[in-house]
Amino acid sequence: MRQTLVAGNWKMNGSKDSITALLDGIEQGLDAVNSNTEVAVCAPAIYLPLVAEQMNGTIVKWGGQTLSKEASGAFTGEIAASMLLDFGCEYAIVGHSERRSLYGETDQDVADKYAAARAAGLKPILCVGELLEERESGDTENVVARQLDAIIDQEGVEALADGVIAYEPVWAIGTGKTASPEQAQEVHAFIRGRVAEKNADVAEKVQILYGGSMNAGNAADLIGQTDIDGGLIGGASLKPEDFLTICKA
Ligand code: 13P
Repeated sequence: MRQTLVAGNWKMNGSKDSITALLDGIEQGLDAVNSNTEVAVCAPAIYLPLVAEQMNGTIVKWGGQTLSKEASGAFTGEIAASMLLDFGCEYAIVGHSERRSLYGETDQDVADKYAAARAAGLKPILCVGELLEERESGDTENVVARQLDAIIDQEGVEALADGVIAYEPVWAIGTGKTASPEQAQEVHAFIRGRVAEKNADVAEKVQILYGGSMNAGNAADLIGQTDIDGGLIGGASLKPEDFLTICKA
């Protein structure tokens, strides 16, 4: 039985005050979260010490939103996997569509970052997903397969067992336009099937999250699908009540 994972991706939002309040709010509602549900928040790196201090001793885990593929050295502005670990991170998001589209991260970069996170003992949350025009031209499966194969070809399919996959259709991110549970399930089943072609054990074990305008109102229907093992939540993870409602879904 796969555990459910609900992970917040705060993106570039928050301040010391707002993050303290958000974490207070989350902490107060944790008792009602089912013990089969893992909860995590991926914070802007500079706030990770704050998150670590406040969430230490709770069920909430934390992670970074990206990382360097390099281990250390002259890479101004970058953050290494070991630095995330130094502040107690369990997770690191890799290949988010905003990193791919706004910062030019290629499939190769994403595979290298996945490898760096994994080598350090972090769980990479690998984001995959198609653009609207790719969906409309019937290319969803090709795009998702290509993004997935970048990791499988370089690191081997077993590497996926050390991480989490997040299917995030780009057209659903921050748009209020969620994939229907059926649309999402279809792609999740495709992803699991593609992994199963290489290794059935890994396919059975790997958590596949849905992301893209998931909110308190639609989370239960999405997470109720056979191959949807939780959510990667943007906007709704900034409101404690909404985030907790999703954790309880
Ligand atoms: P929204 O939930 O704001 O659509 O963002 C989803 C996302 O990008 C999570 O990584």
